Amino acid sequence: MGTRFVGWGMAVPDKIVTNDDLSKTLETSDEWISERTGIRQRHIGGTTTELGTLAGRRAMEDANVKPEDIDFVILATTTPDRMAPSTAALIQAELGLTCPALDVNAACAGFPYAVRVAQGLIETGTKRILLIGAETLSRWVDWTDRNVAVLLADGAGATVMEYSETENDIRSFVLGASGVDADLLTCDHGSYFFMDGKEVFRRAVRVVVDSASEAIQKAGITPADISLMIPHQANIRIIQAASERLGIPMENAVITLDRYGNTSSASIPMAFWHARDEGRVKKGEYALMTGFGAGMTWASSVLKWSM
Ligand code: ACO
Repeated sequence: MGTRFVGWGMAVPDKIVTNDDLSKTLETSDEWISERTGIRQRHIGGTTTELGTLAGRRAMEDANVKPEDIDFVILATTTPDRMAPSTAALIQAELGLTCPALDVNAACAGFPYAVRVAQGLIETGTKRILLIGAETLSRWVDWTDRNVAVLLADGAGATVMEYSETENDIRSFVLGASGVDADLLTCDHGSYFFMDGKEVFRRAVRVVVDSASEAIQKAGITPADISLMIPHQANIRIIQAASERLGIPMENAVITLDRYGNTSSASIPMAFWHARDEGRVKKGEYALMTGFGAGMTWASSVLKWSM
């Protein structure tokens, strides 16, 4: 028995902001942003509820399930629309669901953290879960701060997870947090995101490599068995450094940050959607999802596709 992923969806706002657009108001350039981060453009706009609802609806259509088939909705987000109620509750209403609804905040590691929560619910009797990662980070960006403005963006990705008597897509999990490092990457009430980019970069590579190595070992496989790496999309150089140290070729990594920037909890499910759309998710093959973010939090998981 186990947990299967049975559908995917994603959504981004229509408005595209290119690096050249940002260069008009900030002391930056397309060359600096694309060389240092890999980001070329990002989508900006909407609310977390709107984007999460759209991605969630698409995942439900993809899984061919109706509102009454969903037994729990979990939203991974760092940017809820209100302090209360949870944004998951707002999405639940928009989608016509009647099930329990819960927000999970683990910053950019939010999606894998929420998958772990969903797995626990499924193992203890919940049949089918709609799991969404949605963010509107642009609302918490100081657009005069080039350290952050060039990185963060908006979007949503979603999946439907369900109980299976015969299959198990989740082969291992390694999660962690280091709250003593909270001030490295933070956003206070009524304020903007602040980040010590250099230090976050250093730690990101370390925690991704350590947690991914442990997750691969726990799954009883080697890096050579990983045919798809789905990393949090923060910076191409972090992904390249992790790929090199883990011994997983960059061709196996899914890269979407060039189009979408860093969408925090949404980046991993959006990358999943693209991987599936491009035919890169193949039955019987192993994938690694790995994320890190404010907290500092980290999460790595080995998956094996059953569909
Ligand atoms: N445009 C032009 N120049 C810039 C910009 C910019 N947007 N930003 C910084 N610079 C300048 C700096 O001022 C510095 O100038 P100096 O040498 O004259 O002092 C120079 O470029 C180099 O700056 P660094 O900070 O050393 O640049 P670095 O190569 O480290 O790249 C970056 C900065 C992109 C922020 C990188 O450190 C990074 O990606 N860090 C990790 C970010 C991350 O992953 N965040 C995670 C999660 S987000 C979340 O949880 C919501």
